[in-house]
Amino acid sequence: MYILDGKAYSQEIEKELSIEVDRLKAIHITPCLYVILVGDNPASLSYVTMKNKACSRVGIESKIIKFDENISQNVLLDEIDKLNNDKNVNGILVQLPLPKHINSNIILESIDINKDVDGFHPYNMGRLFCNLDSLLPATPFGIMMLLEYYKIDVKGKDVVIVGASNIVGKPLASLMLNAGASVSVCHIFTKDVKKFTKDADIVCVGVGKALLLSDDMVKDGAIIVDIGINKLDDGSIVGDVDFKNVSMKASYITPVPGGVGPMTISALLINTIKASKLQYEVAK
Ligand code: GUN
Repeated sequence: MYILDGKAYSQEIEKELSIEVDRLKAIHITPCLYVILVGDNPASLSYVTMKNKACSRVGIESKIIKFDENISQNVLLDEIDKLNNDKNVNGILVQLPLPKHINSNIILESIDINKDVDGFHPYNMGRLFCNLDSLLPATPFGIMMLLEYYKIDVKGKDVVIVGASNIVGKPLASLMLNAGASVSVCHIFTKDVKKFTKDADIVCVGVGKALLLSDDMVKDGAIIVDIGINKLDDGSIVGDVDFKNVSMKASYITPVPGGVGPMTISALLINTIKASKLQYEVAK
């Protein structure tokens, strides 16, 4: 069994990105990311802090704008509009989830498509669906990069994705399909998840439930991608996979932490640099 070491690979990526950012700075482009955080969700705060720190490690300018939980949708839209029109801002990321009184779809659709570093705007999602170049959602993009790094070709593989969110499951299904995999997506209404996972070559799980994927649910030699992040009562962080037992059967498996998480951050950095270049080309 091999560990798919997202942490180590993300460190390699960051070295390359630092060089690229230096090159851009030499031609007076400093990539700049704005992260919008609404409310005091501790997990969200920790994610945006990690994103911010990663930006500074590679020389990307980044700023977190924090808003009160009670901010109105219209005020938030005005703030995004300001960032859309600020030529010094290259990337805009609205950390999800947003409070219930705000319609996330309207917010995500208000972001300039060339600054949409999360790739959540329906325009970028649609381009992904059509297999056209776009800003890709960071977690699925990071997963594809990690598999490629370990020379795992998904073409012709049976891939099962557990979790059908707009953030992970659906865009990951599109990327896998575009890469030639046969894809099944399981979700809350799936009658028998094991029926799908037990024969899959690659199982990707991201629903936020510790120990969801047990060893009896996977075949020998399966490749396991754990997208879950769960905080246990003792403070430890685990994924959605029963790592101890599933790793005995898997050929490759991502650990949590240190697997998909760091790759998500690397993908965001890549997207921010790509967005900067995109806007530079558009402005020329
Ligand atoms: N919340 C959980 N994952 C993500 C993500 O990838 N991007 C944003 N914006 N919010 C999230």
